[in-house]
Amino acid sequence: MTNKHHYRVIVTRKLPDAVETRMMELFDTQLNPTDRAMTPNDLCAAIQDCDILVPTVTDRIDGALLAAAGPRLKMIASFGSGVDHIDLKAAQERQIIVTNTPGVLTEDTADVAMALILAVARRLQEGERLVRTHNWAGWTPTHMMGARLRNKRLGIIGMGRIGQALAIRARAFGLAIHYHNRRPIEEKTETMLEASYWQDLDQMLARMDIIAICCPLTPGTLHLLSAQRLALMPRHAFLINTARGGIVDEGALAQALKNGTLAGAGLDVYEQEPAIHPDLLLLENVVLLPHLGSATREGRQEMGDRVMINIKAFVDGHRAPDRVLPGLDG
Ligand code: 8YV
Repeated sequence: MTNKHHYRVIVTRKLPDAVETRMMELFDTQLNPTDRAMTPNDLCAAIQDCDILVPTVTDRIDGALLAAAGPRLKMIASFGSGVDHIDLKAAQERQIIVTNTPGVLTEDTADVAMALILAVARRLQEGERLVRTHNWAGWTPTHMMGARLRNKRLGIIGMGRIGQALAIRARAFGLAIHYHNRRPIEEKTETMLEASYWQDLDQMLARMDIIAICCPLTPGTLHLLSAQRLALMPRHAFLINTARGGIVDEGALAQALKNGTLAGAGLDVYEQEPAIHPDLLLLENVVLLPHLGSATREGRQEMGDRVMINIKAFVDGHRAPDRVLPGLDG
């Protein structure tokens, strides 16, 4: 049995049982048995009462909250890959270590992105709704025609782990891979994926049949797909987003889909989760998922494992392996 460390850990949401049990064994841990997101007041109290906070995407760790943290808080070990819910600048100023859980949700998220591409192109949800509502009148030669994937162009925005995992899947379906990234990926990987790099996002958008967003939300990618950029996409194109809602101007997207200037969308993430732009809910050509990209039993266990590895490394005086802050230069 490991000796528990004196550092106090507060977990903001209900995590898988096995993760919570191990967390209790390893650290002086306070769990949240309610499975409700903490209110800003709860979070404020928590952050003043722990050395290490384990938040999720549903917790807003902004500058004001961090200012109220006091000297005790030393580490934010986030359960998840994206860290856009944390004010990194404020955390850095307070010398708080921030870690995430990269790598363990790559394949699951790429699976969902591929599933959304298939669902939108082949109108799977629309067809399912028809059957379930007893409105299917039987097969006809022209009923429910969708778009063939083979030989179409997929433009991936953000060619990191998830983007590349999606590209591997998409190639098996005969899609040609294009991508926009801050810089080109390793030549070996580009060659393996037969991927074409577009430095200019606008140029890529105008030429793709499907766009898939796989980049993180940062100040630089907020509303990257603005009304103007969405207007560059061909009318027959689809937009897939499994990254963060804020990368797309959701109102502009709803408008484009309503006007028919965009053919369809597959979304797992939204600007103001769990709220969704009301127009999106009324559109047939949109597949809407409840932010389930990483929601596999295996993935959530592995995310918990990474959180514990990061905390354990820190409390034992080592560098936490998945450090977002301090960065490589810190
Ligand atoms: C997680 C996600 O479920 O990891 C991420 O960035 O968006 C999700 O897959 C969520 O972040 C948990 O906090």
